[in-house]
Amino acid sequence: MEERLKELETLALQQVSEAQDLKQLNEVRVAYLGKKGPITEILRGMGQLSAEERPKMGALANVVREAIAGKIEEKQAELEKAAVAAKLASETIDVTLPGRPTPTGSQHPLTKVVEEIEDLFLGMGYTIAEGPEVEKDYYNFEALNLPKDHPARDMQDSFYITDEILLRTHTSPVQARTMEKNEAKGPIKIICPGKVYRRDDDDATHSHQFTQIEGLVIDENISMSDLKGTLEVFAKKMFGDEREIRLRPSFFPFTEPSVEVDVSCAKCGGKGCNVCKQTGWIEILGAGMVHPRVLEMAGYDSKKYQGFAFGMGPERIAMLRYGIDDIRHFYTNDQRFVKQFNRV
Ligand code: PHE
Repeated sequence: MEERLKELETLALQQVSEAQDLKQLNEVRVAYLGKKGPITEILRGMGQLSAEERPKMGALANVVREAIAGKIEEKQAELEKAAVAAKLASETIDVTLPGRPTPTGSQHPLTKVVEEIEDLFLGMGYTIAEGPEVEKDYYNFEALNLPKDHPARDMQDSFYITDEILLRTHTSPVQARTMEKNEAKGPIKIICPGKVYRRDDDDATHSHQFTQIEGLVIDENISMSDLKGTLEVFAKKMFGDEREIRLRPSFFPFTEPSVEVDVSCAKCGGKGCNVCKQTGWIEILGAGMVHPRVLEMAGYDSKKYQGFAFGMGPERIAMLRYGIDDIRHFYTNDQRFVKQFNRV
């Protein structure tokens, strides 16, 4: 029995030292020290021994058991330490590695220009008004002094949905709607940014869909000089303090008088170059004094109230600003184009 115990001890200690991980170690523990293990069995068979031998063997069996248990404990601590070290090693973060850049979007140049124009007018006390892109013929034309069959409707080729409904051809219907909605029939000071649609063939300077910003001011004693002063401030803020503006007579059915507004060429300073086609001036918007009929159709007393309105195309302004030569760049979303405005 003594031999058997020694043999078990040697075997067990060897297996303990060979265990690779905690699972294997536990298997060794169960195999040697478990209830069904050989040592328990030996202790159980002690009854058959003589009274002399019993305490000797009992003591030896306990020594062997403790030796094995002690070794297991030691090995367990060692394996646990190794496991922690391995985990730490595998989870090490190399803080010196270069970071992975996250691709971020950038603001579209057109959005930039629209927001800049909005901010400019918000700073002058205007509020922003919006209206539907699918519009009634009434607001798009009739309420703006363009009755059915008016020849000036040809100035804006339209996408009709029904006889009475179309895609708005300009943002001016928002002024008609705002005046009509104003129950007090009192002062108004708004700008209306938005998309508009015209049946044009797309080319470098035309698009069937583009953007406009309309401005409308209604109050008592509003005159052409208020319009000119406002647009001059706008042009200087937008294109530089040295810019001048000039008004040329024009025609819009909803304004009387109507003007076309030019700004002095930023490239040549008015001397004449390829950008301004040697004229020194660049047309940037249409404007005028709100036609009394438009005021009256919206319920205003045109004797008491006057107003001015203007309409501009942010695409054109962005093109002049950044030297963009084709309006289609705004809509095709070529990353090589859009990304150039990240830093602007
Ligand atoms: N709505 C006109 C257009 O699109 C522009 C404009 C607006 C002209 C307001 C005068 C006053 O052509």
